[in-house]
Amino acid sequence: MALSAATLLICPAPLTTCCFHSIQRKPRFPLTSSSSIERRASKVDHQLQTQPVRTTTTETNKFYGSFEKRLRLCEEVKCRVSPDQAQLLALLVQILGAERCIEVGVYTGYSSLAVALVLPESGRLVACERDANSLEIARKYYKLAGVSHKMDVRHELAVDALNSLILNGEACSYDFAFIDAEKRMYKEYFELLLQLVRVGGIIVVDNVLWHGKVADPLVDDPKTVSIRNFNKSIMADRRVSISMVPIRDGMTICRKR
Ligand SMILES: C[S@@+](CC[C@H](N)C(=O)[O-])C[C@H]1O[C@@H](n2cnc3c(N)ncnc32)[C@H](O)[C@@H]1O
Repeated sequence: MALSAATLLICPAPLTTCCFHSIQRKPRFPLTSSSSIERRASKVDHQLQTQPVRTTTTETNKFYGSFEKRLRLCEEVKCRVSPDQAQLLALLVQILGAERCIEVGVYTGYSSLAVALVLPESGRLVACERDANSLEIARKYYKLAGVSHKMDVRHELAVDALNSLILNGEACSYDFAFIDAEKRMYKEYFELLLQLVRVGGIIVVDNVLWHGKVADPLVDDPKTVSIRNFNKSIMADRRVSISMVPIRDGMTICRKR
């Protein structure tokens, strides 16, 4: 169970006596100000995210464990989805009974590995990534996890890869897609994936909270504006039903009608 800091902040009982007792018995910070509660909540939140999820999830972490030890401090952990997000993606794929999936933005392969591991042997994941070095690492993990035969890696710009799938006659043939690449291209990715995904299929979009910047009218850099506009447009989009799930940096789950 991943609970957000916000959930903890509205917990009516003192944190030491509520359900998180077993996780951290002694308050590390005096609970006298909202900022100290926030600090503590954020620590507990982090523990909830990293401990139970890591131990109960996912095969994925089995393969990534040694990698993380070596690269714990680098950008790797920041750039990829969190374990609880990976768990949710894998669960959605399983609930859908998905066989054909697409990922836009692979990086070193963490989220794609989570998806590939739950695909059936006949399943296929088209993995689009522009960076060769990242793909080299991702391929190592696919091999280590024994899922290389499910992977269709496209080393090119995601828009080009998606257009070529459409040109290849694959419209309406995918069950599941995950968008996690260039933030200024979200609308374009979404429009192309909406063509590729079947009715009832799912498109998940990452980073829709964009560290809260989408809600701050004073922030107007191109990435924030793009995600903010995407969020607005998706709310009014009658072609999909949506649910925005505030885990980590926020994911919107869109089901094609
Ligand atoms: C946030 S990372 C993806 C993390 C990955 N989904 C995970 O959780 O393991 C974004 C990736 O998108 C890639 N990317 C950015 N723009 C792209 C584009 N136009 N086409 C293909 N890949 C792109 C970047 O190189 C980067 O590796």
